[in-house]
Amino acid sequence: METKHDITICLGSSCFSRGNKTILEIVKNFLKEHDLNGEVFFHGDLCGGHCDEGPVLMIDKQMYKQVSSDNIYDILNEFFEISV
Ligand code: FES
Repeated sequence: METKHDITICLGSSCFSRGNKTILEIVKNFLKEHDLNGEVFFHGDLCGGHCDEGPVLMIDKQMYKQVSSDNIYDILNEFFEISV
């Protein structure tokens, strides 16, 4: 059985107020649009202590820092190898 990818979004107050509130919706819509909900476990987490580099997002074991609505599509497209 294939294991699901894991996307963890930081929902700590710093990351949330600095952009992850919007990133959360973007990721949700992206997974739905590309029919990836069955392959991905998408969930939130509390502050992991990387606020200075936030907003942060983890995909599997890889941490993405300073995630924004400008770079989130590149991150997701690259990870899921979706050509645009
Ligand atoms: S709030 Fe996200 S790392 Fe602290």
